[in-house]
Amino acid sequence: MGPLRFNQTINCLIMSSLAIFVVFRTAPVNSLATRANFGGVEMKFVAIHNPPFDIFIRGPNGTFTVRGVALNIINWMSRYYNFKVTLVAVNETLVEKFGTNEAAYHQLIEEKDIDGIICAFGLTLDRMKRMDYTSSFSWVDGFSLVVPRPGEESRLFAFTGPFQPTVWLFILISLMFIVGVMAVFTWFYKNPSFSNYKDISITNRKEDNTMMNPGRNRISSYVSSYLIYVVNILTNQGCREAFDRHSFRILAGFWLLGAMVLVNSYSGIVISSLTVPKMKPPIESLEDLASNKEIGIVLRHDMTMGIQILGAASGVYKVLGDKARLDPKQVVGDAFKLNKMLETGKYAYPFIQTFNTWFVALQYKKDGRCRFHATKPLPVPHGYYFWLTKKGSSNTKLLSDGLIKLWESGITRFWTNSAIGLAKAAECFDSKRQKSSARQVPIRLYDLTSAFLILGIGLGLAILCFLIELIKSKFQQGRRQLMQLKGRGCIDLK
Ligand SMILES: *[C@@H]1O[C@H](CO)[C@@H](O)[C@H](O)[C@H]1NC(C)=O
Ligand SMILES: *[C@@H]1O[C@H](CO)[C@@H](O)[C@H](O)[C@H]1NC(C)=O
Repeated sequence: MGPLRFNQTINCLIMSSLAIFVVFRTAPVNSLATRANFGGVEMKFVAIHNPPFDIFIRGPNGTFTVRGVALNIINWMSRYYNFKVTLVAVNETLVEKFGTNEAAYHQLIEEKDIDGIICAFGLTLDRMKRMDYTSSFSWVDGFSLVVPRPGEESRLFAFTGPFQPTVWLFILISLMFIVGVMAVFTWFYKNPSFSNYKDISITNRKEDNTMMNPGRNRISSYVSSYLIYVVNILTNQGCREAFDRHSFRILAGFWLLGAMVLVNSYSGIVISSLTVPKMKPPIESLEDLASNKEIGIVLRHDMTMGIQILGAASGVYKVLGDKARLDPKQVVGDAFKLNKMLETGKYAYPFIQTFNTWFVALQYKKDGRCRFHATKPLPVPHGYYFWLTKKGSSNTKLLSDGLIKLWESGITRFWTNSAIGLAKAAECFDSKRQKSSARQVPIRLYDLTSAFLILGIGLGLAILCFLIELIKSKFQQGRRQLMQLKGRGCIDLK
């Protein structure tokens, strides 16, 4: 037993020292081996415009400038793995034809010497089939909507706002009814054949009696006089119409009561609508956008979100897809056109929050006011963005390792923040601040548009009426003269 045990101990010692030796030797070798050295070979990458991450601007004579996060990433990698980066501009003809992203894919797949694209992309099944992708993402973000900030409701018809159309209809009907009944009552009181009262003085006051023209007791004259009375009460101006008949007093009294309720509720709402600006309902979700008639949607047909919405067969994506297809201008293939569309303030765009925040801040810097609004995150899965390489390319692993290192160090986020710019338009994102800035200023002319509109219409109508009266009287005068002439002519003939 003794020699056997001794042998085992020796074996054990040898094995463990071997193991220690192996560990000792391989540890530094491993870390050296993972860091590939490309010996300064040249790699070509396609550069595209992908704000706010990557800015690509064409200069004269085929020159171009590139800056942004992806350029920082690839520059870091070229130093770390020792290769040389050459940038190739995305082919403009292809951009026009396929959209920016698809043009870059086309170049990556078709052109032999292109190794990658300096930009990160969302993965779709189609893209995964055509190209290889890094195992690590370079950016991850939630989606939201960038929408034009809702304006104030038009004040042109603010005066009709407080009541529903049916209320207005009922007011009109009851007004006609009251006037009609009043006129009939009066006609009845004043008609000697129906009334026992021989005395024509049926009002309280002497002046009113003298004003009442006994000759003009036609029902139409009562109607116009009572219409003025009823409208005076309704417009809060007050007026007196007194009869010493209980039936008439009851009618007038209840009209006053009814008008009091109507007038007070109306004027209360009109005052509040003049002092507090009434905003159009804001768009906060895809459903809001789908049901909004004024705001269109603009989509990138070469981007994941756009592909999903345009390809949807049901649900809110389908509705949005149909909305986008209504106008071919609303489906674009490059970032420049997209920005131009968004700047018109007529469209909403669903994309990652980083983009939306950047866009709102950029426009704030331009206009000095918050014309746009980025909504809260939409309830859709986050977007993960990967780098793409040629199918079967050996560079994919290299890029993956580099991306992991950069992401873990946090420098990707740092680069992105500096690309977006520090001037975050706080005013556009602070909802509390917006609320506290509710107006405490005098009523503006804009708020009273409706009042002046009514005055204008009234003035126009009065002048029109005056002209018609003038023409009528001239016409009658002319006819009278003609008759006189004719009469004289007849006499002359005789
Ligand atoms: C563009 O190229 C032409 C000829 O190649 C040259 O004459 C011109 O100065 C260049 N323009 C600029 C802005 O470099
Ligand atoms: C762009 O693509 C078109 C079509 O494939 C090709 O004819 C043209 O030469 C390309 N332009 C450049 C600058 O590579």
